[in-house]
Amino acid sequence: MKTQTYFIESFGCQMNQSDSERIAGQLESLGYVHCDQHGNADIIVINTCCVRESAESRIWGHIGALKHIKEQNPATIIIIAGCMAQKDQQSIFRRAPHVNIVLGTQNIDRLADILQDAQPKKKLLESGMFDDDGLGQEAGQKKHQGISAWIPIMYGCDNYCSYCIVPYVRGSERSRPFDMVLAEAQAFARAGGQEITLLGQNVNSYGKNLPDNWNFPRLLQKIDREAGIPRIRFMTSHPKDFGAELIEVMASGKNICEHLHLPVQSGCDEILQRMNRHYSTETYRRHIGQLRSAIPDISITTDIIVGFPGETDEMFEQTLAFMAEIKFDAAFTFLYSKRSGTPAATMEEQIPLAIKKSRLKRLMDLQNSISLAANQYWVGKSVEVLADGPSKTDPSVFSGRTRQNKIVLWPATPADFPGNTRLLQIMSAQTFLLRGEAVVERKD
Ligand code: 5AD
Ligand code: SF4
Repeated sequence: MKTQTYFIESFGCQMNQSDSERIAGQLESLGYVHCDQHGNADIIVINTCCVRESAESRIWGHIGALKHIKEQNPATIIIIAGCMAQKDQQSIFRRAPHVNIVLGTQNIDRLADILQDAQPKKKLLESGMFDDDGLGQEAGQKKHQGISAWIPIMYGCDNYCSYCIVPYVRGSERSRPFDMVLAEAQAFARAGGQEITLLGQNVNSYGKNLPDNWNFPRLLQKIDREAGIPRIRFMTSHPKDFGAELIEVMASGKNICEHLHLPVQSGCDEILQRMNRHYSTETYRRHIGQLRSAIPDISITTDIIVGFPGETDEMFEQTLAFMAEIKFDAAFTFLYSKRSGTPAATMEEQIPLAIKKSRLKRLMDLQNSISLAANQYWVGKSVEVLADGPSKTDPSVFSGRTRQNKIVLWPATPADFPGNTRLLQIMSAQTFLLRGEAVVERKD
């Protein structure tokens, strides 16, 4: 019998990539084998994102393009999963009748059952609404392979930032029990894993639904001490729940990387309030001050939205000034995108696209100069780099990352292999990367 294959394409955030691994795990448990071309696959999965309109339009294009494949091979099963599937389930079936299954964000673990129940060629319609039976969270985890893995510690979000669709499509917060997270990290360590990223929409609210006062700092400390993973990262942190206990664990931890992604979203207090973020620029500034004094050389990255409803030129200038003051190592910058159903979508004073775009350009230009200066700091220093593999564009060059999550390129040698840890001297810096050379070989 011909081997059955699946192809999976993932859009959006790391949580979606992690969900794709869970989907892949279930398909593999049913005997499907991964293939990297959708034209040949028996099952095609698109794992979607709807956080901004731009992502959504692109995904509609991809869904439309699958019609052709279905016409050529009617037995192909087409599955649309993820946030857009949760939000637009009915319109997906209406606009794209070639789709077989729409899989909501909380029904991912039921995919294997749905496929096994399916009558051949029968159109499957999965409700996709939140079931939240509590069982679904642990099924179908794909065994982590390679050097780095995403490990979800919680699902959903209770914050309801006024611009954000995520709480509506991912439901309320549910934390995974700490022993499951730890066991997953330990299994990955035994398989040779070098780096994990603990994932959640707001990791700082981990444990609220768990017994025994679990919170994120305690979890992080436990993973640091007991998982046996040399590099531990986590994202995303929310400034309103960030604090001294976590800074202390980060500073005293052995394997916790010196990097924090802390989305500020705006440098204007009035906008932060309207965004329903529950912190001020002063609180944010204080966190950064404490972090930098506790952990020298920590890198700090952020997310910023420009053109939130009502953002005046002066408010935008405050964001620029805040960016210049904090000196982020990098920033992910976004044009505000109206998401229907969120409070900000009906706020007055929506900002015209041309203004949003010109603000975005100014923000990116400023950040690029700050990123370059932040990278130049590393020139002449020796850094520990975890090798990813040869550069895609130039195989004579190897690529890896520092503990601060900065990309480093260096001339490949026979000693280089993916997963190897090297000590490199940084020779030069660019806006988005560093260039290094080997100085000392590690003995271990
Ligand atoms: N428009 C623009 N950016 C958004 N983000 C979330 N929702 C929106 C929106 N409606 C950004 C935030 C968040 C990141 C993942 O995406 O900056 O931190
Ligand atoms: Fe969206 Fe805010 Fe939750 Fe992040 S914390 S997922 S921005 S609602």
